[in-house]
Amino acid sequence: MENRSERRQIPDRRGEFPSLLRSHNGYPLAYLDGPAGTQVPQSVIDAIARYYTMCNANTHGRFPSGEESDRLLDEARDLAAEFLGAPGAQCISFGANMTTLSYALARAFGRLLQEGDEILVTQLDHEANRGPWLGLREKGILVEEIGIRDDATLDYDDFSRKVNSRTRLVAMGLASNAFGTVNDVSFARTVTHRAGAWLLVDAVHYAPHFPVDAVAMGVDMLLCSAYKFYGPHVGILYAREGMLDLLETDRLRTQDQRAPHRIETGTQNHAAIAGVKAAIEFIASFGRGADRRSRILGGMDVIGVHEDRLARLLYDALGEIDGVTVRGPSFDAPRRAPTVSFTVDGMRPQEVCTLLGRKGICAWDGDFYAVRPMEILGLHDRGGVTRVGISLYNSEEEIARLLEELKLMVRGR
Ligand SMILES: Cc1ncc(COP(=O)(O)O)c(C=O)c1O
Repeated sequence: MENRSERRQIPDRRGEFPSLLRSHNGYPLAYLDGPAGTQVPQSVIDAIARYYTMCNANTHGRFPSGEESDRLLDEARDLAAEFLGAPGAQCISFGANMTTLSYALARAFGRLLQEGDEILVTQLDHEANRGPWLGLREKGILVEEIGIRDDATLDYDDFSRKVNSRTRLVAMGLASNAFGTVNDVSFARTVTHRAGAWLLVDAVHYAPHFPVDAVAMGVDMLLCSAYKFYGPHVGILYAREGMLDLLETDRLRTQDQRAPHRIETGTQNHAAIAGVKAAIEFIASFGRGADRRSRILGGMDVIGVHEDRLARLLYDALGEIDGVTVRGPSFDAPRRAPTVSFTVDGMRPQEVCTLLGRKGICAWDGDFYAVRPMEILGLHDRGGVTRVGISLYNSEEEIARLLEELKLMVRGR
């Protein structure tokens, strides 16, 4: 396999994102807020508009728009399966967003599990992969937390200690949306499956930055959200074959009772699902190869190299600004997402982001719903952190602008 860093540079496709043309106070907008949702290319916008123009219909209509709509939804499911490395469309369900799917799964697990059974969540995760499981405590299910270390990495010793013969499910993130930590999924799978439990992973922050191979990862369920990878607001669930059929999901007797439809209630957001297909095609258009999976993997590789380069630049430069403290793992970690969070001495993150916003730099402050690690790391009462996320359309020039503004800010404290 070719070395990632030897690959060609990412082609400049910024012109395909209409929102990048916006400016504010005379400054072009620099969208460094990708972890909260990326910008959308024209091809995705067109696919959504085309759906409403050409094939707007409910499912199973015996007329052209109905048949075309069904075909499009099938194609989107096939493509999502290829994006996630699933064996086929039967493993892919759509939902309103990741959180809604997560709650739907938790309700179903609540019917399957018994009092005294255990679920493990982590202290690093977004609340969407904690709250639904913590809610099962009401049913007598024990929900324990895997701890974190000071650098916002999982405490794997604690992980090993807490998995036991009563553990039925481990719900873990693949990457932290707050600190960029990438968790060790092969460790998690080994320990979880050895105990006879299921492994569910939240790939919402992982899927935009790294290729996903759900089968190779050996996970039982994986969740992600298309609006984090250049698509619209749609949640996607991968459940390995047979998994969803074990679960008593909420469903009407009138709907298809089998996977993958078993968890899809009501009419889906068809136009947005057409946009999911276009978003994956957009990613694949960065890659080369004879088949779509190779182009998706190639595209993710090109995107990953670009993001990693900019994130390292940013990380190193932030470390040199007096009064700025970078939070989370270093780039020496085996893998790290291009999401860099930091605090500025004497300034709350809200103030930092407001000042950046005036200069057209979009960065987020707060906990980003990853409230538990902020509490554990003592950042919660300080307003959390400032988070900068790199996406494929970000440039070195935008990073330079951000650094310049931060230096001025620090000087003016
Ligand atoms: C890591 C992570 N998990 C879950 C979610 C929730 O996703 P959704 O907005 O699709 O419910 C987010 C959203 O920011 C996230 O970053």
